[in-house]
Amino acid sequence: MADEKDPSTPKPPAPGAEPAALGAPPTRPPDPAEPKVPAEAKAPEPRPAAAKAAPAAPAPPATTSAKSADAEGVSRRGFIKWTTVGWVAFSAACTSGLVASTRFMFPNVLFEPPQSFKVGFPSEYTVGEVDTRWKDAYGVWVVRNSEGFYALIAVCTHLGCSPNWLAAENKFKCPCHGSGFYKTGVNFEGPAPRPLERARIVLSDDGQILVDKSVKFQAEKGEWTKEESFLKV
Ligand code: FES
Repeated sequence: MADEKDPSTPKPPAPGAEPAALGAPPTRPPDPAEPKVPAEAKAPEPRPAAAKAAPAAPAPPATTSAKSADAEGVSRRGFIKWTTVGWVAFSAACTSGLVASTRFMFPNVLFEPPQSFKVGFPSEYTVGEVDTRWKDAYGVWVVRNSEGFYALIAVCTHLGCSPNWLAAENKFKCPCHGSGFYKTGVNFEGPAPRPLERARIVLSDDGQILVDKSVKFQAEKGEWTKEESFLKV
């Protein structure tokens, strides 16, 4: 006979409750101290098959190799281009240097008028006149007075301009700063500090007047009294 107080003895169902299925384990009332587990935690959701599989490596595009070849071709063309530019520049520099060196071997030649020259016979000159025929060619005036000839160098003693003979005013006038010189070559106006210079003047073997600009005579040094600064006739 079963004991009513034996816990192992199944209790009769409460009135109104459905009888337990035959052979089913006995249910026990929920323990309030037992923590509740969410339903989601209990049963993880199944993953899709596709997600489980490792993603496959993307297949290389079909044009990758073609682009690489193009890039290599561009790089090679750029290298050839800049190499060519460099060689052209180098060749141009060498050519310029060669031309400059060659030019250096042939210095400029200055064609200056001769320093010594003949200006004709004494009979060709008129007393009291300034002959301007030789100014452009040789840079001198030949002047005849009652005693003879002298040759004035046509260079202003201020800053080196070339004065002009003004027959109407009977003077030499410098166009640069206005210096004026008498027919003798002595300065009398403007900034010129001293008289014009005279050139050596003599008679040549053939009887013509010879002027030599390489020998000069300066009035302020008392050289106008020297022989060959004046040609007596
Ligand atoms: S250069 Fe002749 S006046 Fe100055």
